[in-house]
Amino acid sequence: MIPDLPLRTERLLLRPLVPADREDLLAYRSDRETCRYVPFPPMDLVEIDRRMAGMWATRDLPEMAGENLTLGVEHEGRIIGDVILMRPAEPAGTVEIGYIFSPEVRGRGFATEACRPLLALAFDELGAHRVMGRLDARNTASARVLERLGLRLEAHFVEDEWFKGEWTSTLVYALLDREWRDGAGRSSSVP
Ligand SMILES: CC(C)(COP(=O)(O)OP(=O)(O)OC[C@H]1O[C@@H](n2cnc3c(N)ncnc32)[C@H](O)[C@@H]1OP(=O)(O)O)[C@@H](O)C(=O)NCCC(=O)NCCS
Repeated sequence: MIPDLPLRTERLLLRPLVPADREDLLAYRSDRETCRYVPFPPMDLVEIDRRMAGMWATRDLPEMAGENLTLGVEHEGRIIGDVILMRPAEPAGTVEIGYIFSPEVRGRGFATEACRPLLALAFDELGAHRVMGRLDARNTASARVLERLGLRLEAHFVEDEWFKGEWTSTLVYALLDREWRDGAGRSSSVP
């Protein structure tokens, strides 16, 4: 299923990434601090081009386990971050979200704003039962994004993952379709 793109929010445009975005992507995806808690090392242009021709070329919503859809987040004509919808192998009915933004634009609510239409895609287009966010327990900025989106803290796994050379703890946040239908995650107010 191909979603109707681009998605528009008050300040942002969510659209597929294209080769012309490579320098914008490099600016934050090559940054060591930005990549501290994400499941990949800082990237160079070779890796960005490889992904552009591979997983980032997908235009379909992730209907099957293992599939994913990455969208670039455009603000004032440049890519300031990207977001991803993923279908984990299990549990069935769950869709996972992820996000990464340039340090230059943090603290302005762009990540939260960009993730709201992702929740709509997951629940309203894909028919997900549950949307989940998973993060390193030290990643407090990311936890705040999920809380602003209305996801509930469901689990705190202690040193469950060997990640970038150390044992790390994981938080799991989630939102159910009935909570979404009841209005959770739709508020545009700044906490
Ligand atoms: C996680 C990450 C996207 C969070 O970015 P962020 O800028 O803190 O998040 P938001 O865009 O939602 O902005 C929220 C902040 O903007 C403020 N804000 C200003 N205007 C706002 C608005 N209109 N709406 C919401 N928040 C607003 C909020 O008060 C909040 O401030 P606070 O951090 O002091 O509480 C960012 O830190 C990042 O890219 N990290 C590296 C990659 C990463 O770790 N990804 C997650 C992996 S699990």
